Amino acid sequence: MTIFQINDVKKTFKNREIKEQVLKGINLTLKEGQITALIGASGSGKSTMLTIAAGLQRATEGRIYFQGINLSEMNQEQIRKIRAKQFGFIFQSSHLVPFLSVEDQLTLMLEISEVRLKKQEQRNEVEKLLKLVDMYHRKDAFPSSLSGGERQRVAVARALIHKPKMLFADEPTASLDSRRSIDIMNLIKDLTKTMKITTLMVTHDEEMLLYADNIVTMRDGLIK
Ligand SMILES: Nc1ncnc2c1ncn2[C@@H]1O[C@H](COP(=O)(O)OP(=O)(O)O)[C@@H](O)[C@H]1O
Ligand SMILES: [Mg+2]
Repeated sequence: MTIFQINDVKKTFKNREIKEQVLKGINLTLKEGQITALIGASGSGKSTMLTIAAGLQRATEGRIYFQGINLSEMNQEQIRKIRAKQFGFIFQSSHLVPFLSVEDQLTLMLEISEVRLKKQEQRNEVEKLLKLVDMYHRKDAFPSSLSGGERQRVAVARALIHKPKMLFADEPTASLDSRRSIDIMNLIKDLTKTMKITTLMVTHDEEMLLYADNIVTMRDGLIK
């Protein structure tokens, strides 16, 4: 079943007098529960496409449908709500909050997403997910005392704690060595399959393509 659809999306950036069309009419359909990998040379527009799909920036033209709703027609506040409740994000670096413990990173995300749970239920949910990413024993640790791989495991948990429908990941393994990359991709795959989350992932790592249900290549602002 189609859950997400990108229709003829174009994006032009204007720097001073120079206009650059980075996306020239992208069409892409994502099926519920599948992992789609977006690949292509550096500068081909992958991150631009991902951030537009995720509602972090707007397309110049075109339409984006999430569960049949046209996000391109929504105002900023409506998009913010959908992003907070229905979307999860993982980036190349973990972007954890330096002054929060591992446990509090996840609790904060539950609050931002307005998942209304009693304190005890909140703790249970956080515990359950931290155990799944094998980080519960580090729940009181701060990001500075974690390794890169551990930080990214926490970032995966934080991206999924509010049970989003969509996961957007921009080179989630790019800062990790091969063994830790495989570890993170196994986690992403296991958790998104169990939770029936649909994933759009930018990667330039060939090894990561083994985890994708679909592979889409971008070239010069188009899908080839
Ligand atoms: N905010 C921006 N303003 C101007 N140009 C941008 C902006 N974001 C991206 N670009 C340009 O768009 C092109 C595609 O960038 P990007 O989507 O980051 O590619 P990729 O992720 O495939 O490496 C690049 O030429 C980049 O310089
Ligand atoms: Mg990029």
